[in-house]
Amino acid sequence: MKAYLNRRYRFSASHRLHSEQMSDDENRATYGKCNNPHGHGHNYVLEVTVSGQVDQNGMVCNLVDLDDCVQQNVVTRFDLENLNYRQEFASAVPTTENLCTVIYDILKREFRQAHLERVRLEETLFNSFEYARTEGLNH
Ligand code: NI
Repeated sequence: MKAYLNRRYRFSASHRLHSEQMSDDENRATYGKCNNPHGHGHNYVLEVTVSGQVDQNGMVCNLVDLDDCVQQNVVTRFDLENLNYRQEFASAVPTTENLCTVIYDILKREFRQAHLERVRLEETLFNSFEYARTEGLNH
């Protein structure tokens, strides 16, 4: 029997949406207030979904293992950071879409105890982003 496990985590980080490839005017036109030079912060809610066969213990995976992995590799890495200065965003604008794919790739690499289905990131009460790579395709 296959089952899905959803787990939520929280971290806070700041960012400024700004691309070095564009002029200041183009940046302002593209990102609006999010291009403000001083940046702004978000209290992100991260939802991770994993799946797998329910084992003899009645679980998809051990929640402690998932928590340890996400804490070590995602929450500790990004909490109270300015995303613009992180090496993960050295060549990408730290939009929440891009943050979502970065987190997905980290967890795909680091979490082996169950199948990573998707990563969902709430930026505000009103918007959230999801990422799940299609199996067998290079994106
Ligand atoms: Ni923002």
